[in-house]
Amino acid sequence: MTLKCAFQLGIPDIINKHGKPMTLNELVSALTINLSKTQCFFAQQKLVSSGNNNDEEQGYVLTNASKLLLKDNPLSEYAGDESKLNNFFNEAMASDARLATSVMIQKCKNVFEGLNSLVDVGGGTGTAAKAIAKAFPKLECTCFDLPHVVNGLESDLVNLKYVGGDMFKAISPAYAVLLKWILLDWNDEECVKILKKCKEAITRDGKKRKVIIKDMIKENRKKDYKSIETQLFFEMFMMVLLTGTERDEKEWAKIFADSGFSDYKIIPILGLRSLIEIYP
Ligand SMILES: C[S@@+](CC[C@H](N)C(=O)[O-])C[C@H]1O[C@@H](n2cnc3c(N)ncnc32)[C@H](O)[C@@H]1O
Repeated sequence: MTLKCAFQLGIPDIINKHGKPMTLNELVSALTINLSKTQCFFAQQKLVSSGNNNDEEQGYVLTNASKLLLKDNPLSEYAGDESKLNNFFNEAMASDARLATSVMIQKCKNVFEGLNSLVDVGGGTGTAAKAIAKAFPKLECTCFDLPHVVNGLESDLVNLKYVGGDMFKAISPAYAVLLKWILLDWNDEECVKILKKCKEAITRDGKKRKVIIKDMIKENRKKDYKSIETQLFFEMFMMVLLTGTERDEKEWAKIFADSGFSDYKIIPILGLRSLIEIYP
């Protein structure tokens, strides 16, 4: 990605055109990008001069963003230890959930109607579960997430509770499981493990139950460049931080079959987001 970026910025041509060795400052000012963008990851600082040289030399220092790229600064488990990052991440998720859940409830009422109970797996701090519990007061909702995310959270709704746990080990039983922005983060093997646990959670007494997935379905048919750009950004985000990926319908269908689900239905809801109901 770095090489591709250097090529797209024309760095080899700029250095070639310069005709002599180029300093980093010269290179940065020759780039056709906003100066503020060159300082996101590294900042410049005046060096404290030790000699009589009055030239004010500049040196590069790390910013908070580039500190995250240090080899001994693993991002995994970081949110569990770092409450500031934990809160920041959960609030970012909640802000997306506020928009997406209201659209989901309006457009897909029938997906939730008639259900007795629902567990929102990886439900974060409960924004989606709260909205669903309010919209469907007869539905018993559970927001299920890692203990460091839900510990200390209390619900003011009688039909919503929080449960801490690990979706790879066991999920609270319910008529339906909601997986909103979850499977995108994981590779196929991990998704199959999660879906098998979901199947266990909804499998009792032979009644018709389902898993509701809200995620992206990759497609390029529309030739809508904004959508493709968004998909590519997500793809890069997955490559850098997580083991997950985006999937087209065929790839989703394979995961469902490998996890023991027999059928599925796709309901497009908002932009690239779709709801997929899957049935045992
Ligand atoms: C991308 S966020 C999605 C949050 C929420 N569903 C939403 O759409 O806003 C993924 C969530 O999965 C949770 N998570 C990650 N690993 C988990 C695990 N092993 N068991 C339960 N939850 C997990 C994270 O804490 C996080 O809240």
